[in-house]
Amino acid sequence: MSMRTHTCGELRQSHIDTETTICGWVNTFRDQGKGLVFIDVRDRTGLTQVVFDQEDCNEDVMERARSLRREDVIQIVGNVEQRVGGANEKLATGQVEVRGAALTIFSRAHNPPILPDEHDAAKISEEVRLRHRYIDLRRPSMQRMLQVRHDLSALTREYFHGMGFLEIETPLLIKSTPEGARDFIVPSRVYPGKWYALPQSPQIFKQILMIGGCDRYLQICKCLRDEDPRADRQAEFTQIDLEMSFMNRDEVLKIMTGFVRRIFKHLLGVDLGTIPHMPWKLAIDTWGSDRPDMRFEMPLTDISEIAAKTDFKVFQSALAKDGGVVKAIRIPESAKALTRKLLDELQETAKLHGAGGLPWTKVTENGFEGGVAKFIDGVSEELAAELNVEPGDTILMGCDRWLTACESLGQVRLHAARMLDLIDTAAWKALWVVDFPMFRWSEDKQRWLSEHHPFTAPVAEDIDKLKTDPGAVVSAGYDMVLNGSEIGGGSIRIHDPEVQQTVFDILGLDAEQQAVKFGFLLEALKQGAPPHGGVAFGLDRLVMLLTSTDNIRDVIAFPKTQNGADLMTEAPGPVDAEQLDELCVSVHEPTPT
Ligand code: AMO
Repeated sequence: MSMRTHTCGELRQSHIDTETTICGWVNTFRDQGKGLVFIDVRDRTGLTQVVFDQEDCNEDVMERARSLRREDVIQIVGNVEQRVGGANEKLATGQVEVRGAALTIFSRAHNPPILPDEHDAAKISEEVRLRHRYIDLRRPSMQRMLQVRHDLSALTREYFHGMGFLEIETPLLIKSTPEGARDFIVPSRVYPGKWYALPQSPQIFKQILMIGGCDRYLQICKCLRDEDPRADRQAEFTQIDLEMSFMNRDEVLKIMTGFVRRIFKHLLGVDLGTIPHMPWKLAIDTWGSDRPDMRFEMPLTDISEIAAKTDFKVFQSALAKDGGVVKAIRIPESAKALTRKLLDELQETAKLHGAGGLPWTKVTENGFEGGVAKFIDGVSEELAAELNVEPGDTILMGCDRWLTACESLGQVRLHAARMLDLIDTAAWKALWVVDFPMFRWSEDKQRWLSEHHPFTAPVAEDIDKLKTDPGAVVSAGYDMVLNGSEIGGGSIRIHDPEVQQTVFDILGLDAEQQAVKFGFLLEALKQGAPPHGGVAFGLDRLVMLLTSTDNIRDVIAFPKTQNGADLMTEAPGPVDAEQLDELCVSVHEPTPT
């Protein structure tokens, strides 16, 4: 006999008068006292109501039914019947009930610390839910999330399989090769004092696979970066990783656009439409971000020329900087809503992103009033015309070097839109951000850093500038942005060893460092490397969008907390002195910083 004949979400009127065996967790129990016990049994697929009636069951079964409590795991054998007392329209199985004849209790739940009830989930702290993840995962929305994750993986494999991609695994224990974040490292027992790193991504391996003639590669892989988790960032996350040979940028973007459109069409019924390309410079200049949220307007306007005509010190000192600008955004119908307290909050956002402050003013029937109104008095008409103002608007300004002014005001734009509920949450706005700069100058490190990673190619027409003006070189990199979230990034790669060496030189790696860290890649590039490029999508971020959550921990079965801990297994934890000894590793107190 099978352990079960139906799932708990399966029974319908067509099953009436058949015998069923179902298994699951006790979701609710009601002892009605008149010889009737009602149980809702739950599994991944749904709920079924079961009635134990002393008219049909022997006393032993009734006794056990009365002893049931939430989250006990049971098996019920019974007849499927029309529900007495009317259908429950909210349940897919609501037309029927099972008249319990036999009951097996597989296991008991001993005073469950939490219950997997959707309506209570928000009241239970996330810490407690993560500690008891085995109960929290039973919640229908968690099960739905796992289903979406699975559907996304299945669709990914199907789509790329259809296009001739090979799924190839790459190693987890690798040599430490920088990709921008800190590596997790693993000591080697066989080579004391030497270390493996866990991959931040399979980047170099997928390129080597192209050199190895594999042509089209796919992997749904774990990436590990020792950085602080955030709302959309985990130290351990999953990528849909892809690489292709003999394709130019537009061909890569076309395949990837098709993929993302297919996902949203199949899993949400949403047509993302044509996905436009936006140059990085325009994204920063107009929207203040390299991942602009296009579900609302409020563009940044350059008002430097008008600002230059005032005596306002804040404007003047920004404009005196090399590349200094004054930018402004106009928030319609916000003058009342944006109280002093909220403006202070926006000011904090601006400061957090590098600005000195956030000059503001409001528009009334009589012109600008409040904030910096008196400093712009002389140019008020010109400014009002430039910004197309209406009474009731608030004007916020960013004054600094171009990038800082734009990015800080871009963050303010986003914060204000969230604050004032200006984002059309039903909209889907995707775009490719292209034409990034190759390098970003680090004041801290006093050297160039890669905007994407060191293997990204420059656009062909800028190769000559690499040696003369690295800051002006445009890369063949691209990011896909959906509703302000960076869901994927990639590039056409360098396949010429000389260009790769030049890029390493610009990044400040001397010949020895290049040989030690990337010798194998430079060697491989000298052995017949095809032109190639690829992309990696953040699978967790895609699932966040597909399930409408802004917390990445909601879409991972076993996530880490903000502090990088797994509360259920209590990782990270201590290891035996013996284990450390075997690895020739000793632990000392952290050096005070
Ligand atoms: P990148 O570092 O941009 O590129 O990562 C690609 C995509 O992965 C997602 N992502 C993350 N998701 C959750 N938590 C994180 N900590 C995290 N970091 C990144 C984002 C991002 O767009 N090897 C290159 C790809 C390539 O060039 O092909 C890479 O890893 O959605």
